[in-house]
Amino acid sequence: MKLALNGGAAVIPPGLIKKWPPVDETDEKMVLDSLRGKNHAFGPNCVAFQEEFAAWNGNRFAVFTNSGTAALHMGLCACGVGAGDHVITTAYSWSSSATCILHHNAIPIFVDIDFDTINIDIDKIEAAITPRTKAIVAVHLHGLALNMEKLLAIAKKHKLKVIEDACQSHGAQFKGRKVGQFGNCAAFSFNQNKSLCAGEGGMFVTDDEDIYRKALQLWSFGETRTPTESRDYHAYALGWMYRGSDLVAAFGRAQLAKLTRNLEAEMTNAAVLNRRLGNLKGLITPTAPQGHTHTYYNYTSRIDMKALGWSEDPKLMRDAIIKALQAEGTMVGMWQSFILPHMTVFQARNAYGNGCPWSCNGAGDGVVYDVNGYPAAVRHCETHFGMTVPLRAPNGPDVAEKVADAFEKVFGNVGQLDPHAIAAAAKEAR
Ligand SMILES: Cc1ncc(COP(=O)(O)O)c(C=O)c1O
Repeated sequence: MKLALNGGAAVIPPGLIKKWPPVDETDEKMVLDSLRGKNHAFGPNCVAFQEEFAAWNGNRFAVFTNSGTAALHMGLCACGVGAGDHVITTAYSWSSSATCILHHNAIPIFVDIDFDTINIDIDKIEAAITPRTKAIVAVHLHGLALNMEKLLAIAKKHKLKVIEDACQSHGAQFKGRKVGQFGNCAAFSFNQNKSLCAGEGGMFVTDDEDIYRKALQLWSFGETRTPTESRDYHAYALGWMYRGSDLVAAFGRAQLAKLTRNLEAEMTNAAVLNRRLGNLKGLITPTAPQGHTHTYYNYTSRIDMKALGWSEDPKLMRDAIIKALQAEGTMVGMWQSFILPHMTVFQARNAYGNGCPWSCNGAGDGVVYDVNGYPAAVRHCETHFGMTVPLRAPNGPDVAEKVADAFEKVFGNVGQLDPHAIAAAAKEAR
C-alpha cells in the first residue's frame, strides 16, 4: 500500500476530524449574555466559575486566573517559597512548570522523568533535595496523574510543600481521587488546547484557607481582598494582575458543564487506539499504571527505533514518521522538543539580570543544568510525537478507528520512508 507521503491515497479524508472545542448554543448564549452584561472585568461569571469548578474538582477554594501559569505562580507564593529557595520539578514539561519558580525568585531543580509514564521519576526526587529545598511543582503530564501516595510521602518526610501542576490533567485520577486534591494547592489551564478550553485562563485551587488568602495577595495587585469585597486600593504586598475576565469565564462555565462528557469521549477514543495499536511494531503507546485514570489529554507515543531497525539519529526517523502520519490525515504533531534544563532561560542563569536568582546569596551554588543529566527525558524528546484533537469530542470512536488504520499503514510500511530525503525536503521548504 503506497503511503500518502509518496503519492498514495490518504486514509483520513479532509474534514473528518472535527475541530476542538465543540461550541453549541449554550456557549453562544452564555458569552453573549456576558457581553450584554455590565461587568466585563471580574464579573458574575468569574465568581460562578470559581464555585462551579471548585465543586467539580472537589476543592474548598478556587480562584479564577488569566492563565495556568498565573495559578502556578500563585501556588509558589501561597506556599511561602522565598527568594533563593530550591523547588523541585520535572525535566520535561511546559516551560512555565519551571519558570513559575523563577518568577518567585527561586531556583528550579530538575529531576529526570520516568520514561514509561513521562512524569517525574519519583524515585529520583530525594537525591535532588538540598537544605534549601522548600517545595515540589508536581506535574501531572498528558492526562496522567503522578503516584501521589509516593510523592506526598517524600514531601512529608522532608517538610516540602506540593504545588500540583494539573494544567494538562483535568479529571485525571489517582486511586479514585482527582488531581488538585492532593497537594497544598494546584493549577489548571483553560487555554485553547486543554480538555477544558475557554480560549485562555486558569484556576488556582486549594483546600487550605491560609494558602487561599496568600494566593489572593499575588492575584490582584497585592490588595489581599477579592474584587467582590470592598477594595481600599492599597498594595499590602507585592502582587501581580492575574484576574480573569467575565467573557472568558462565561465560555469556561459553558465548557465546564460538558467537561465530564468530553473527558469520557477522550478516554473512549483513546481506548480504541490502545486496543488497536498496543502491539504495533515500532510504536510505544501511552502507559496507565494500575490505580491511575489516564484522560489521554495528549495521546503521546514514542517510536521504538530498535524494533524498526533504525540506528541513526532517532529524530530523523521520528520526523519522517510524523510527516507520513500527517500525510495520511492524522493531525499528529510534536509538543516540547527540548528538555527544560536545556532551555536558554536556565542555561544562561540570568533570569533577572546580574545572574539572578542564581547569583543571589549563593542560591545557585552547586546547581548544575547538565543536559546529559536527564537521559530518560532526552530519549523521550528524541522519539515522541502526540495527538490531541482527533481524540476529542465531537470526534468519536469511528475517527479513532481511522486514526488507527493510518498508524497501521505507516508503521507497516516504514520501509517506504527515506528519513534523510524527507529531512532534506523539509529543510528546502523552510
Ligand atoms: C504542564 C503545563 N503547565 C503549565 C501550563 C501553562 O498554562 P497556561 O498556558 O494557561 O499559562 C501549561 C500550558 O500549556 C502546561 O501544559
